[in-house]
Amino acid sequence: MHDQPKATTSNETLLEVSGLKKHYPIKKGVFSTTVGTVKAVDGVSFSVSRGETLGIVGESGCGKSTTARLVIRLLQETEGSIRFAGKELTSLSKGELRGVRRDMQMIFQDPYASLHPRWTIERTLMEPMLVYGMGSRGEQRDRILELLDNVGLNPSYAKRYPHEFSGGQRQRIGIARALVLQPQLIIADEPVSALDISIQAQVINLLQDLQEQYKLTYMFISHDLSVVRHISDRVAVMYLGRIVELAEKEKLFETPLHPYTQALMSAVPEVAGEKRERIILRGDVPSPAKPPAGCTFHTRCSSCMDICKTEIPVLKKAADGQLVACHLYT
Ligand SMILES: Nc1ncnc2c1ncn2[C@@H]1O[C@H](COP(=O)(O)OP(=O)(O)OP(=O)(O)O)[C@@H](O)[C@H]1O
Ligand code: SF4
Ligand SMILES: [Mg+2]
Repeated sequence: MHDQPKATTSNETLLEVSGLKKHYPIKKGVFSTTVGTVKAVDGVSFSVSRGETLGIVGESGCGKSTTARLVIRLLQETEGSIRFAGKELTSLSKGELRGVRRDMQMIFQDPYASLHPRWTIERTLMEPMLVYGMGSRGEQRDRILELLDNVGLNPSYAKRYPHEFSGGQRQRIGIARALVLQPQLIIADEPVSALDISIQAQVINLLQDLQEQYKLTYMFISHDLSVVRHISDRVAVMYLGRIVELAEKEKLFETPLHPYTQALMSAVPEVAGEKRERIILRGDVPSPAKPPAGCTFHTRCSSCMDICKTEIPVLKKAADGQLVACHLYT
């Protein structure tokens, strides 16, 4: 994977999320009585600057995909605010949202499932332009050929179907589709997790090259710390629907502050290096339907104090401007 410094990050905030929550009611019985709530996302706040890549990591079920789907408006929030390019998205009408939607696109883990099996690649890439009435037929065709070339696919592949491609090539098609409408923000949810290791690096390099070329802003979701370390400028670590730590990539990987981040990193040898001892977490992640009181990590934390069992730690600036939600730093 490349390691060149990036020149495109600006100080302008493109996306600002605050206090975002998504709670699902748990219903039981013939009368569908609400007997509880799944707190899939429970008060998440972060911002992303134009041209930046914000990585989001955390174990399965911590709310990464739900956060992504809320931002891109595939899900309606329970509470909170999402400002994108100066607009508050949670209060926009359907018509107003349509305009904003083309500026935010998503890349999924499984491109095969998200590509129409009976559509040629040309049709798949044409569809968004038809929906938004972008360009003439000739311009649309030229754009498709240009996009295929940009993502490293032979333009002659336009007439082929998804099953004729390898996993890596299909993800390139998924990326081309995300780029068709010239979006500002791309949310990639585990975009390389289903690919062979050798192909992962190529796709990550492609995403980095496209970011430079089109001045894109990325939210990059992955459970794989090595991949996140490679591509991100800053990284948010999620646990049970909340961000527990958020910092510049170098700081987070060199001096993780939150005990959960420390444990996650210690489990990956190439991230932890030789000096760090493996921290084995006790027990499983608790259910988001029954999160522990106080610090939701307290049931697994070896540094747990009395205050941790009753008071929720808020995400606050600690040493070096790193944000951390832990009573050890207050
Ligand atoms: N529609 C739903 N109804 C009830 N609970 C849900 C729903 N969608 C998600 N959840 C729950 O919300 C939590 C967060 O799910 P989410 O898919 O956001 O996690 P994730 O971090 O993306 O996990 P993974 O790494 O496995 O993709 C999980 O416990 C999940 O079971
Ligand atoms: S707040 Fe307490 S329980 Fe939670 S991570 Fe910090 S030390 Fe551990
Ligand atoms: Mg997910």
